[in-house]
Amino acid sequence: MIPAIRIEQVGLAHTRVLATLHAACLDDPWSAAAMADVLASPGAFACVAVPVDSSDAAPAGFALARLAADEAELLSLGVIPSARRRGIGQALLDDVIRSASRLKARALFLEVAESNDPARLLYAAKGFSAVGRRPDYYQRANTVPVAALTLRLTLRQVGVDTGPDDVGT
Ligand SMILES: CC(C)(COP(=O)(O)OP(=O)(O)OC[C@H]1O[C@@H](n2cnc3c(N)ncnc32)[C@H](O)[C@@H]1OP(=O)(O)O)[C@@H](O)C(=O)NCCC(=O)NCCS
Repeated sequence: MIPAIRIEQVGLAHTRVLATLHAACLDDPWSAAAMADVLASPGAFACVAVPVDSSDAAPAGFALARLAADEAELLSLGVIPSARRRGIGQALLDDVIRSASRLKARALFLEVAESNDPARLLYAAKGFSAVGRRPDYYQRANTVPVAALTLRLTLRQVGVDTGPDDVGT
């Protein structure tokens, strides 16, 4: 079920919010300074998912991406553990796909750990396909190295009011 959330575009002014969300969602937290560097880089764009029926309205997830020439890259995506499996990750990804299409990107790329089944299932449901594999890419203390998969989604060139053909597949 899609919960009552709204997706808001955010930027440098939301560095701390994004860094806090990143730390809550992923194993390798980025500092606020690192997040600010990414947000300040050319072509960067970000969004958060805000519950509309929550009294504190704290964001439950985020997505961070970057446009370079006619390609976009999803740099990070996360939903806080207590809000997962309610369609928020999908809504954030849809928003990134729409934004990248509006920015005239022809494709959206991302990297995902081969062991990350939830994320891989989400991306597969959106139509991403693997175009590369880097063995032992993710190396964390006391864990077996994990390969990174590079995934790609072709985006249709669209006007402002329509979505890419891959959305919802
Ligand atoms: C990956 C992540 C963003 C998914 O967010 P989410 O809000 O839970 O995902 P959604 O509820 O929108 O799920 C959409 C679809 O993805 C798939 N999916 C997501 N999580 C899944 C899980 N735990 N098990 C199986 N399928 C899953 C399903 O196909 C799901 O559709 P369904 O619920 O109709 O079956 C979230 O698990 C997360 O933040 N993980 C930690 C950070 C991370 O791995 N980020 C990605 C880095 S590349």
